[in-house]
Amino acid sequence: MMTEYYAVVGNPIEHSRSPEIHHAFAAQTGAALRYERLLAEPDSFELVVRAFFAGGGHGLNVTVPFKEAACELADECTDRARRAGAVNTLKPQPDGRLLGENTDGIGLLTDLLDNVQVPVAGQRILIVGAGGAVRGVLPTLLAEKPESVHLVNRTRQRAEDLLAFVGTDGVRCLAGGLDDVPATPFDLIVNATSAGLHGDFPDLPAETVNPSSTCYDLVYAREPTAFMTWAKAHGAGRVVDGLGMLVEQAAAAYALWRGLHPNTAPVIQTLRAPLPDAGG
Ligand code: ATR
Repeated sequence: MMTEYYAVVGNPIEHSRSPEIHHAFAAQTGAALRYERLLAEPDSFELVVRAFFAGGGHGLNVTVPFKEAACELADECTDRARRAGAVNTLKPQPDGRLLGENTDGIGLLTDLLDNVQVPVAGQRILIVGAGGAVRGVLPTLLAEKPESVHLVNRTRQRAEDLLAFVGTDGVRCLAGGLDDVPATPFDLIVNATSAGLHGDFPDLPAETVNPSSTCYDLVYAREPTAFMTWAKAHGAGRVVDGLGMLVEQAAAAYALWRGLHPNTAPVIQTLRAPLPDAGG
């Protein structure tokens, strides 16, 4: 059996859990697959990608800060990736052209629908943040036809620009600053800011959360993020981190490359288990 070669490229990249996830998927079917981390610099990204595929690479994941560059580099993009303006999965076509896809939105949606088991269609959604993470997931969330999407950001202009770029897909959407969040409950609040990584979260009105709200942090960290702590303290019904999304976006990439959708539940469970050095 020929070993297939995959990788994830980003900067930084040393903490990426993608190799572990894809090796776990491969183990489910005994596939021979090698998946590595590739560090690139802004001026070497394209070279790294070209060299990877010239060397026989079967598929490449792209992470921060290169998703937009990967969208430019791809010879063709799926609709979803084009609307996001960002690519996290590259697949060589038989003629050598590179196809760009973005599985971040499917990853989030699958985690919400199948794992957390909350709907998106018909729901009132609040998204906090307007960076690359939101670009990736917004087209897929809108395609589900939520009742409304409020997109708010510390820098209001960025929220407005992002919505203008992605479009509303016929959904009632509002873009604004953090002060524009109405003091009424949302069904789903998505934190897409990097604020939690520094231990803080913007002060939203307490009324945005109630026992039927789901609060979802796109970030996965070993400790609850500041957003998750805030959500729990305000009585959110469900508080979720981004681990399920991480595994589901990987599964969608794996399916695109290999034509086979892996079983995600045992992989999420394994990653969730405390690491041997945890607790210190
Ligand atoms: P990513 O690719 O993870 O989305 P990004 O593009 O750097 O990263 O976006 C980071 C997001 O976190 C932005 O929405 C940023 O708000 P600004 O556009 O105003 O910079 C948001 N963010 C970061 N730190 C924040 C903080 N302390 N409070 C509120 N928002 C914060």
